[in-house]
Amino acid sequence: MDGSGKVLSQYLYISTAPTLPREEVDAILATSARNNPARGITGLLLFNGRNFLQLLEGEEGEVAVLMEKITADPRHSGVSVLDRRGIDVRTCPDWAMKRVMIAESIEARREMLERDLPEALDPEVRKMIVNFAVLN
Ligand SMILES: Cc1cc2nc3c(=O)[nH]c(=O)nc-3n(C[C@H](O)[C@H](O)[C@H](O)COP(=O)(O)O)c2cc1C
Repeated sequence: MDGSGKVLSQYLYISTAPTLPREEVDAILATSARNNPARGITGLLLFNGRNFLQLLEGEEGEVAVLMEKITADPRHSGVSVLDRRGIDVRTCPDWAMKRVMIAESIEARREMLERDLPEALDPEVRKMIVNFAVLN
């Protein structure tokens, strides 16, 4: 639960966007920075040039409404929810939507993610994110 006593949910999904220009990713992050704070949404976004992975957390009703919008967004397709769980505490409390960069070299990726991913992530969720990020 958060400070207001509402139940918090966390969603992790992947999607496909093979021809999306990089500028569109910046536009998505700008929209997220504009909208998410007022809705109490926090999270992180990875883009590997072909696929997105996004972690969203917030009050269940808010996250569910945003997931519907995101699923209908024509900039990507094949939205597939990997994990959805109730959480007691936010794992990304300071991030309206943090872009997590994926290093060029595969060897550097794990190290970079270990540093950049939030400490409070459930180990199982962390593993799903790292596995996504080390894929080519
Ligand atoms: C991969 C991806 C992630 C997105 N993440 C968010 C988000 O965290 N917050 C958000 O408001 N919109 C996000 N969007 C954009 C929404 O689909 C939608 O375009 C936007 O919420 C509309 O905002 P507006 O009504 O202010 O234009 C995302 C879109 C994509 C493709």
